Amino acid sequence: MTKNNIQLYRNGHPIETGAVVELPKQVEKNGRSIEALSFFKQTITAETITLSYGFEKEDMVIGLGETVKGLNKRGSELVAFCADEPEHLPNKKSLYGAHNFFVVLGKVATGFFIDFPGTIHYDIGFTHKDVFDIKINGTDVAIYKFEAPTLKEVTHLFLSIIGQSYVPPKWGFGYQQCRWSYETADDIRRIGKDMREANIPCDTIYLDIDYMERFKDFTTCDDKFPDFENFVSEMKDQGFRLIPIIDAGVKIEEGYDVYEEGIRDNHFCVNDEGKPFVAAVWPGLVHFPDFFKEETRQWFGDKYKVLTDVGIEGFWNDMNEPAIFYTPKRLKAFYDHVEKSKEKPLDIYSFFDLKGEAESLSSSPEDYRSFYHEVGGELVRHDKVHNLYGYFMTQSAAQGLEAIDADKRFLLFSRASYVGMHRYGGIWMGDNDSWWEHIELSMKLLPAINMCGFMYTGPDTGGFQSDASGELLIRWMQFSIFAPLLRNHAALSSRDQEPFSFEEATTETLKNIIELRYSLIPYLYSSYMKAALERSVYAANLIMAYNDKRTREIEDQLLIGDSLMIAPIYKQNRTGRMVYLPEDMLLWNTKGTAVDSLEVMLAGDHFVPITLAEVPLFIRPDRGIILGSVAETVEQVDATQLTFLGYMKTGIEESYYDDDGLTKAYQQNQSQETTIRVLQSDEGPKASVDFDQESELMNVKIIIMDKTGQRYEGTLTREASSICLEKVSQYDN
Ligand code: GLC
Repeated sequence: MTKNNIQLYRNGHPIETGAVVELPKQVEKNGRSIEALSFFKQTITAETITLSYGFEKEDMVIGLGETVKGLNKRGSELVAFCADEPEHLPNKKSLYGAHNFFVVLGKVATGFFIDFPGTIHYDIGFTHKDVFDIKINGTDVAIYKFEAPTLKEVTHLFLSIIGQSYVPPKWGFGYQQCRWSYETADDIRRIGKDMREANIPCDTIYLDIDYMERFKDFTTCDDKFPDFENFVSEMKDQGFRLIPIIDAGVKIEEGYDVYEEGIRDNHFCVNDEGKPFVAAVWPGLVHFPDFFKEETRQWFGDKYKVLTDVGIEGFWNDMNEPAIFYTPKRLKAFYDHVEKSKEKPLDIYSFFDLKGEAESLSSSPEDYRSFYHEVGGELVRHDKVHNLYGYFMTQSAAQGLEAIDADKRFLLFSRASYVGMHRYGGIWMGDNDSWWEHIELSMKLLPAINMCGFMYTGPDTGGFQSDASGELLIRWMQFSIFAPLLRNHAALSSRDQEPFSFEEATTETLKNIIELRYSLIPYLYSSYMKAALERSVYAANLIMAYNDKRTREIEDQLLIGDSLMIAPIYKQNRTGRMVYLPEDMLLWNTKGTAVDSLEVMLAGDHFVPITLAEVPLFIRPDRGIILGSVAETVEQVDATQLTFLGYMKTGIEESYYDDDGLTKAYQQNQSQETTIRVLQSDEGPKASVDFDQESELMNVKIIIMDKTGQRYEGTLTREASSICLEKVSQYDN
């Protein structure tokens, strides 16, 4: 594949977003005039650019990252505008990320990345069913066009110019426990103790806003978290890393160093009068750091050291759209309005008027139009560059962490994002609800977000708002164990949602599912790293691999890495579901980690019975997955032994990637590759393993099933690295 089919078109003076960092030399950097972009009919006015395309019958529109819509966006209306949107209802046009990459998939695949940091409206055959209208709220824009025969190739072209996706530490693939809020250190100790007593693997526990003193960034509350440094190491000794939240707004408080330094050195965004802009978020009144300024990014990024110095190794950046609960200015105007309303009749019109006014106080467009950033010495109104704010905050964090320890991988993810930020951290899918529909939504989001470069992602498993039932958490967990970021998070007033907070049978099932996750980490991590290094995706819709008619409409089955397909249950009271197999596959429908029930399934439609305790894994033909053992934490997993589970039709060759999981040495190719082959021979299937000299791996147990349903096994060691596999009856296991 070549990169020749990438074109750049520009209009005006696009803001440097840093989204594209690896444009091939043959693509003219200044691009062509936007008028040469013939795919769309264009209308350019003084304020906007509209691109229009007339759909062909079979066209699909795939992409746009974090939205509430499914695989094919045709028929939808969406807006690229990072929004603090806690209600992920089907009518919502924006979520937290602005990911302007999409592919029109018809006879060929044509992809576009619109690099524009303001608002973009996508009317994807919503107003007129055959018309795709894109309205860009500005005229300074860069548009990249990618052409290739398939969705997979076009996505690769895009991923190849935006730089490598963020790579978390390997422990970031462990199970992570969160809640808003574990209010005191003792709460956290209790969570850790209960997890360990229930024997449920867990690598991290999160610190939501209560760990801070009055919600001030880079402080810790001495009353609730006394001797923070010792507490961090006490939890680390038990295998738990603590991950604190960092919010975008800096509390206005005399004597608070971050506030005072920010004022002294002009680090805050300013209002029309050139004074620091004031808004209210969790800490009360705050100023927003102007992350568009290099020196501010550096200043804020360096602050993370306050926490890394006491042993913290990961962070989640929040409220960085930036979310605004209200501004004092508009709150005052609202009170004046209420005052005037008192003269009006006490009727429904007054009621709805006041209700609407109150609701419009949060994250209002008017507020986003009333503060400014300094970009290249000039003041730029926030709304024109809004979608870069969370990105630049996370870039600031990543650069600060890099300055602290250039070789260490820190865990880092954000709520708001824009393409380019994927190099600095992951994203989580924000405030969902404990609704069955939101399991399905997270299944739609995972591949869509991956396609835009954000590979380290996952939902608030179990749902953030509302109350989760045990069944819902189990079904959600059965999906989320395949997401890179596996975090259970719940909101303040919702029901307890830790795996041990339910009746025994539910806890037991959750434990088994989380153990399965740990045993899958070798495969998941290997798949993640290969995707990051090769600029492909970790999780994909089936259409990425099978360009057939049926897979165009399938969005509740996903490919995880190259060898695995999943088909989770996401509806209540189900004991099975329909699954479409584009090719013959091996089903491992498992209650835990034992490889005890395997079944060859032929291509086509099947009803697959799946009890509440079972997780179905479908292995693609002539491929396999690598499984490890289970331990309390990722770092305690025994790296000397692995199991390979494969489905052989003609022959298998799989390579498995690993590295130290903690440093950036992989960038200097310090990684290990183990190749596993199973080939037919006269004596039956013959397996061999190429052990990497550098790896700790000592033996690999091979389990394969052939197309007749015959199971074979054998264990390979460094001494005996090529053997004939033995026939085994399913019932021997
Ligand atoms: C926001 C975040 C949520 C967090 C809460 C309190 O709603 O999205 O994850 O728990 O703020 O910090």
